[in-house]
Amino acid sequence: MIANANIKIEKTKESRVTNYDVNDVPFGKCFSDHMFIAEYADGKWQNASISPYQDMPMSYAMSALHYGQAIFEGMKAYKSITGDVSIFRPLENFKRMNKSAIRMAMPEVPEEIFMGGLLELLKLDSAWIPTSDTGSLYIRPFLIATDEAIGVKASDTYKFVIITCPAGKYYTEPIKVLIETNYIRAVEGGIGFVKAAGNYGRSLFPTKLAQQKGYQQVIWTDGKTHSFLEESGTMNLMFVVGDTLITPALSDTILAGITRNSVLALARDWGMKVEERKISIIEILEAHANGTLKEAFGVGTAATIAQIIGIGHVDNYYPLPPVEERQFSPKIDETLRNIRKGKIEDKFNWMFKVS
Ligand SMILES: Cc1ncc(COP(=O)(O)O)c(C=O)c1O
Repeated sequence: MIANANIKIEKTKESRVTNYDVNDVPFGKCFSDHMFIAEYADGKWQNASISPYQDMPMSYAMSALHYGQAIFEGMKAYKSITGDVSIFRPLENFKRMNKSAIRMAMPEVPEEIFMGGLLELLKLDSAWIPTSDTGSLYIRPFLIATDEAIGVKASDTYKFVIITCPAGKYYTEPIKVLIETNYIRAVEGGIGFVKAAGNYGRSLFPTKLAQQKGYQQVIWTDGKTHSFLEESGTMNLMFVVGDTLITPALSDTILAGITRNSVLALARDWGMKVEERKISIIEILEAHANGTLKEAFGVGTAATIAQIIGIGHVDNYYPLPPVEERQFSPKIDETLRNIRKGKIEDKFNWMFKVS
């Protein structure tokens, strides 16, 4: 049960939703009418409010800008075929956000603020949720340090904010990924397992280099030996080798993806062999050479399932079987879509009902 977070609500005078076709907008560029904000000061959460979407007044000395105390989450709300609104596993995002908060020396966000704010916001902005088969409302909760102060220390004040934007397909085509053996996303003891803004900033330069070589994304490898595969962009990685689904085991260098957890639950439910363990580059290249590498794909909230059609390693390119020949990942993609759209039974209770 979510307690009342005493949210002050100021509704927009005129909705902007009619300016857009919510089923056809570029990802992350058009924001819905309202936003939720709560403030942390004097050791407590206060001033929970929903207001029309607007810019933030801030100091150029705001500590998040200088010292990186900035974390975020990403999840999606869906409109079912009967018009009901629900969110995919939001309590998992809530828990993960607070893991990030602890690691970044930030205050945890109480459940009544996170969930209470989210539910009120979605009730107000439900007209922004796409109705198309692959559409959803992307939800971006984030927490930032707001002290106006230069000097490296944990901030005393913070803002927790939720904004949302309609989203269609993230990748419209299968992707090519390059195994990164020079730059590092995360190291043991670091912050790879949390959604801290700095993890993403550091990924941009290597990704740009990979894109210059014709790839859409990189596959990160372990920071010590560059011989084990970890993640790809903002997705966890999965392979079907022979009849087994394999994925890198979670560690403090890998984000515990909610899509990853859901795909593994479905695969196990279907009786598929599943292994969570270290996966070396050599193992995948050998499976490619002997024809047992059937599928490779990334899994994450933004993309759901991103098919990988080729992998680059050093100067070599390894094309993978066409998507049409794949048995497992298209079925997973369709099953997740059907659960989210209320077309099939939600036997794991993943959909959190808003209305
Ligand atoms: C680095 C990273 N790995 C994996 C994921 C996939 O996680 P999820 O399925 O919870 O979206 C994300 C996206 O949140 C990410 O940023």
